Formats: sequence, structure tokens, C-alpha cells
Amino acid sequence: MTTSRIAAPNLRSRIMSAEDAAALITSGSTVGMSGFTGSGYPKAVPLALAARIETEHAAGRAFRVRVWTGASTGPELDGALAKADGIEFRLPYNSDPVAREKINRGEMEYFDMHLSQVAPMAWQGFLGPLDTAVIEVTGIREDGSLIPSSSVGNNKTWLDRASKVILEVNRWQNAALEGMHDIYYGTRLPPNRVPIPLIRPDDRIGQPYLACDPDKIVAIIETDAPDRNLPFAAPDESAQAIAGHLMEFFRHEVAIGRLPASLLPIQSGVGNIANAVLTGLVDSPFEDLAAYTEVIQDGMLDLLDAGKLRMASATAFSLSPEAAARINANMGAYRSRMILRPQEISNHPELIRRLGCIAMNGLIEADIYGNVNSTHVMGSRIQNGIGGSGDFARNAFVSIFMTPSTAKGGKISAIVPQAAHVDHIAQDVQVIVTEQGLADLRGLSPKQRAKLIIERCAHPTYRPMLEEYYARARAGSYGQQSPSLPGEALSWHQRFIETGSMLA
Ligand code: COA
Repeated sequence: MTTSRIAAPNLRSRIMSAEDAAALITSGSTVGMSGFTGSGYPKAVPLALAARIETEHAAGRAFRVRVWTGASTGPELDGALAKADGIEFRLPYNSDPVAREKINRGEMEYFDMHLSQVAPMAWQGFLGPLDTAVIEVTGIREDGSLIPSSSVGNNKTWLDRASKVILEVNRWQNAALEGMHDIYYGTRLPPNRVPIPLIRPDDRIGQPYLACDPDKIVAIIETDAPDRNLPFAAPDESAQAIAGHLMEFFRHEVAIGRLPASLLPIQSGVGNIANAVLTGLVDSPFEDLAAYTEVIQDGMLDLLDAGKLRMASATAFSLSPEAAARINANMGAYRSRMILRPQEISNHPELIRRLGCIAMNGLIEADIYGNVNSTHVMGSRIQNGIGGSGDFARNAFVSIFMTPSTAKGGKISAIVPQAAHVDHIAQDVQVIVTEQGLADLRGLSPKQRAKLIIERCAHPTYRPMLEEYYARARAGSYGQQSPSLPGEALSWHQRFIETGSMLA
């Protein structure tokens, strides 16, 4: 195996197998891993650790670790460790199906949190000590600095905070990634915080490399393994309709002078609908766009290729295998138009507010007043987590949430009398769009919002049910600011749990 990606001569002696590196991790310890969506996560050590945990469990010995990451990862990390029942506690975001099942069975503790807050909470000491960092990098330079890979996430913080560091140097990661990253080392704790000097999405305020105390590096593993992201579904009729309503909304906002013709920096959430909206922008009249967002997904690549998107700033790639191959074939050209930053910067409330981002995120359900649930099915089962949606929604220039009006073949209405869990309060939700239409809620009172959401966003099957509920709530005697029937407001969810459908 060549060592060409490890240029620091003093570190070569620390190259070892993933199994030997995994043996350095102790039961009960906290491990901070790289990884954000299916990008830049370590691929060998977690697998070896999972195998070790299985052996320990087979011998009747308990072995579990606490796992922190940037966001979701791949099957070699969350999937393998969850399958081995090796995760005691997980933060800040998960979308792995095996881990999700464990969490929802009550077998794994999970704290889903605002992604911008993970690093500051770790620096402030609120999350407890970090024992080991396991970080994937593209290469190690002669001076020991690290070339980040396809995600940055919380790597800077894990490298700073951990007592010991394990590096995976992945040759699959394109060497031409070098120079794309912008790692800002100017963050401070209160009362010493200073403004972050980023004024435009393409500003570079840091350095291209991660720093790491060489004395902390206990193991280096060489790998050659691809990132793993699922392909996006081709936009269906519903996704296309949502994208169409949004394009109309943007055209209108530009026409009346509330948005510039190049819009404002766009943020696009995770999932198929968000990706479809980006695809919709390819055929739109808007030019010279910029993105200040969390992940660069396929649709952004299409926008870059079409010359519509000037540049994109994010913390990670979230690309289908096809799009990853596309970007890897031409990384040199993309590099000048992309910046990957630590997630406390890509998602920083100060910067999102300053830049005036247009936030576009998916939702699970919204209630008639516009409170949004992004995370919990029937109020109890976690789907993924709040991720960066809260960072962007509260601080955006305009905060948009989008969803098909029904889920599970029409058995669930995405517009409900009351959200069974609230991630985004009505004040942080300014526009809701479904395939049925778009409700611009800015400046409206709760009753005005309810009327518009039911009329524009609800599916025709559920609209009369919502109208009837709302009429009875308005006839109620307790209050007329946000009329509600508390004994009935969650009855649709209860009906689904009991009968498999929200329909009466
Ligand atoms: N009730 C039950 N299940 C629902 C539902 C509802 N009201 N709405 C959606 N779902 C289910 C879908 O059926 C689907 O399940 P499946 O995978 O078993 O088929 C799953 O949730 C995903 O829904 P989908 O319609 O494919 O939408 P999506 O891919 O756009 O994801 C969210 C929607 C809300 C799950 C996703 O956007 C998310 O996790 N958001 C929170 C984090 C976030 O916003 N991050 C971005 C910040 S930068």
C-alpha cells in the first residue's frame, strides 16, 4: 500500500490496521467521528469496532460507546455500530434505518440538536469529555496539517477536544479537494466572542487545512472506500408541482422588489423534495445565484453546470453515486466555485441572518396555524432529527417549508389540526407549500394563517375535515386567538395509530 497521502514523515510510524486502531477505543468512552450525510465519515475503524463489539457481546461482556458526529453518516458507521448494539448514546443527527429502529425501540439514547450548536456546546463543556476522535481526511501534509475530505462537519472541534486522535486517510477522496475548504479558527466563547468576518457567501475567512496536535495522533489507517449516499428519486408530479409553486413565488417577489433578480443565498434542506426544487431552478429565469447552505446535493451540481449558480458554500457533499462520479471527474473546475466549512459556520445564525438566506426545508407535518413538525411521526417516533432546519428557519430572510400534502398513500394528512410535535413555531414558518399550493403567511394572524393553510395547502380529501374542525373550534367558548379543541386536536394521530388511517 502506498503512503503517498501521508507526507509527514514523523507520522508514518503510526500507520496500523483498522482492527488495531479499534482496539484503542474503550467501552463507555465517547467517540467523535467525522461524517455529514453520507460524506467524509470514517469507513474502516467503525466497522472494526463493530466487529470487536460483537465479539465482546458474544463473550458476555458489555461494550458500548457514545457517538458524536457532524450529522448522519453511512452504513459502515451508524448502521454497523447500531446493528452490533454498540451505541449507548448518539448525537446530533441520524438517518440510518437500523439506528432509527433502535432509537424508536428505546434501546439507544438520542439527542437530536441544532447542528450549529454542537461545536459551541462541546467547547463550553456541556456535552462532557471527548475521549477519541476518528476523522477521515484526504491526506496529511508534510507539516502535519490535514487536508479535509468531502465533509467538514465538527472535525475541527473533535480534533481540538479529543484526548486521542485516529485518522483515516482515504485515497478514494479526490486529491483535488485540497484548497476547497475554509476552516475558521476565530471562534471564541462568551464574553470574548467577536463578529465572524463573513459578509458574502464566497468569502474565505479561514485556512484550507485542519490543525491537529501530532502528539495526540495514536493511529493512522489508510483506506480506499467510497462515500455512500443514496440516489435521489426523480422528481415526481408532486415534487414538480411544489417546485412550480415556489418558482412562481420567487418570480412574484422579484417582480414587486422584495427579492433581487439573483434572489438571495439559497439554503436547501435534505430529501427528495428539496432536491427537486433545486432542479426546478435550473429552468427558472433566475441567474447568478449563490448558495449558503448545509449540503451540496445533486440539484446544486445541476445548477452549477447550467451556469445558474455562481457558487455554493456548505459543510458537506450529499451526492448520489452518479453525481459524486461527476464531481470527482472534474473536481479542479468545481473547486473554485465551492467552499466547505465547519458546520458551526455553514449553519451560523449570525451569518444566516446577515446574508438573508432563503431557507427551504422539508417537513413531516404542519398544523393549521403553521407550527411545523420536522422530526417525529405521530409525535413519538423519530424520523431523522431537526438537523440544520432550525438554524436556518429562525434566521432566514424568508423561511419556507415544503411537503406533499399527504403521506403513506393518502392515509396521513401533512396538514393537521395540531402538530403532534413542534420543531418550528409558527413565528419561524413564513411560507408553507404543498403540491396543492403555497401559503404566504407573513404578516398574518393565527386565524388568517389557518384559513390560508387549509385553503391552499391541504389535500382535497382532508380539507373539509379541517374546515369542519376549525369551524367548531371557532364556535368554542375558551379563546379566539388560536382556536383549538384540546380534546380533539390530536385525534387524527390517535385514529392513525388505531386504524392505520387519519381518515374518519
Ligand atoms: N407522517 C408519517 N410519515 C411521514 C410524514 C407524516 N406526516 N411525512 C413524511 N413521512 C415519511 C415519508 O413517508 C417517508 O417515509 P419512508 O422513507 O418510509 O417512505 C419519510 O418520512 C421521508 O419523507 P419524504 O416525503 O420522502 O420527504 P423528504 O425526503 O423530503 O424528507 C423530512 C422529509 C421531514 C423527513 C426531511 O426533510 C427531514 O428529515 N427534515 C429534518 C431535517 C432537515 O430539515 N434538515 C435540513 C436542514 S439543512
